[in-house]
Amino acid sequence: MPLTTLKHPLAKHFLTQLRDRETNSSEFRSVCHRLTTFLVIEATKNLPVISSSIETPLESFEGIKLEHNVVVVPVLRAGLGMLEGVVELIPELSVGYVGLERDHETAEAHSYYCKLPELDNRLILLVDPMLATGGSAEVAIDRLVAEGACDLRFLCIVASPEGVERLLKRFPKLEIITAALDRGLNRDKYILPGLGDFGDRLYGTT
Ligand code: PRP
Ligand code: URA
Repeated sequence: MPLTTLKHPLAKHFLTQLRDRETNSSEFRSVCHRLTTFLVIEATKNLPVISSSIETPLESFEGIKLEHNVVVVPVLRAGLGMLEGVVELIPELSVGYVGLERDHETAEAHSYYCKLPELDNRLILLVDPMLATGGSAEVAIDRLVAEGACDLRFLCIVASPEGVERLLKRFPKLEIITAALDRGLNRDKYILPGLGDFGDRLYGTT
């Protein structure tokens, strides 16, 4: 399934708190962290595993472990708000960073930083809370694919239909996992109903 939206009532409850303009930065950060946990669980539910024999204190047990190493790539800066939620569940992963900023006039994304670990044969979780026009995600994914990414999943908190369409047209095999698919974009390319500027709300900037 290329697009998955979260159905869990707790996830919807957390998202409503993020949307609420009365939610301050400190609450926003901790709710974002909790909501990311649900996205990670959904995004990893069919991760390939291999068998792993261990000894319990009483006898042998045939368990499982993840087949591939996982890489998480937060898109700076708003994606940093989701990073700890991923690391908490998969502590042994590697972390890469892609720095992107949308021009306030044109909404075009430009890249200002990129530092990535080895991507070959790894599951990559690209995290950026807002998928609006899809321009930022497209730049990030292009870069990851150029560096060898094959199994890529994009985790966001709010997606617009325009952004989803753009990404799936360009990357038909991409999996997008979002807490909500909203109505659309306004003239300034902000998501409606959305939650405003995620980075500003996360970091208390304007
Ligand atoms: C936000 C968001 C995405 C981008 C989405 O970042 O975190 O990266 O906008 O918009 P798009 O789909 O139209 O490209 P922003 O550029 O505001 O930078 P920030 O994270 O530094 O606040
Ligand atoms: N970036 C945001 O932070 N919010 C939007 O609604 C769109 C892009």
